Amino acid sequence: MRQHLVDRYRKVFVSQDEPELFFSPGRFNVIGEHLDYNGGQVLPGALEAGTWIAAGLRPDEQLVIYSTYLNETRQLDLRLPPPAEAGWWRYAAGAVLAVSNRAERLQGMNLLLHSTLPVGAGLSSSASVTVGCALAAAHFLDVRLTCTETALLCKKSENEFVGVPCGYLDPFAVACCRKGHALLLDCSLLHQEHIPVHLPDHEFVVVDSGTRRHLIEAPFRQRFDECRWALQVLERLLPAQHLADVSPQDLRRVRHWIGDDVVYRRARHVVTEQWRVAAAAECLRYGKGHELARLMRASHASLRDCFEVSTPELERLASLMQAAPGCLATRISGAGFGGSMLSLIERGMYEAFCETVHHSYRQATGLEPGFLRASFGCGAYRYTNG
Ligand code: GLA
Repeated sequence: MRQHLVDRYRKVFVSQDEPELFFSPGRFNVIGEHLDYNGGQVLPGALEAGTWIAAGLRPDEQLVIYSTYLNETRQLDLRLPPPAEAGWWRYAAGAVLAVSNRAERLQGMNLLLHSTLPVGAGLSSSASVTVGCALAAAHFLDVRLTCTETALLCKKSENEFVGVPCGYLDPFAVACCRKGHALLLDCSLLHQEHIPVHLPDHEFVVVDSGTRRHLIEAPFRQRFDECRWALQVLERLLPAQHLADVSPQDLRRVRHWIGDDVVYRRARHVVTEQWRVAAAAECLRYGKGHELARLMRASHASLRDCFEVSTPELERLASLMQAAPGCLATRISGAGFGGSMLSLIERGMYEAFCETVHHSYRQATGLEPGFLRASFGCGAYRYTNG
């Protein structure tokens, strides 16, 4: 990969320089879906797949970004206000501009982006780009950032510069995960705990359904608003600052105050899922695969029935994954509305599981699924040769 990126960089930017290399992973979420914007806990791990960035200095004040996926280049003059139009380049440029704002000088850069992640599969391909570019820019501009500062800067950039209402889950997972650990992140206090994963008999597989729902932002924003409405009612009745602070018992007790059944079910997902996250972290730590499987199945049911972010294709895939050899549990991973599913399977069954799901899903839907081992890799880093 290294030589391939260096060659590509030199060709694209017509340069003999040796670029610096950075790797920024994608993420999967063991459990804790749609909790990050409700002040709850999430439990992601980093994937081995992600975005490679080959980056070098320029002798001018231009930022030049090239995507190998699109085979497109975009150039920005760092001395001018950034252009307003939308585009893939905003993820990278927003992160570089945010870091540049903290630096003492303007510095032109070339960035070559090469992703090994399926794009739009709910595996955080966008946070993978923003965090990787922030890391590259911080390196060249001598800006010191902790992983928490990087994650916060990238979240702000994606919210404001790209205009996507992403929460804490993606940038924190991509920037802060540690190898062999899941990240238990409390999204109200931003407290992080690295949970050592000890599952000798089980492993995780991510399956990309191959379906993408365009304009996913609209239903996502709707869920966001419904949760806010629920909180507005509940905070008048209970000592809750965030929806995830409410207990399932209290929610049931004040149900009639909410009135609207849809809003009640959204809140019900949040308060029950919150409880499952802490329990799942203990399962990872103490190797309780079967208990974890039970929590994952409950999470999926809640996402399907209460939060309503599943689709017919995802449900089809879920039942085929569930029936495949070695599978203990399957759930939506990420926002839902298409994208990816996560299964917990018996260790050693990866090939048999993938082969069966590949065949049965293709036959049932004509769609091509993608497979990734979800192995708790490490957060974004600068690649050095050793
Ligand atoms: C998307 C968002 C995250 C999170 C998940 C659902 O991936 O970007 O912030 O809300 O959905 O858990």
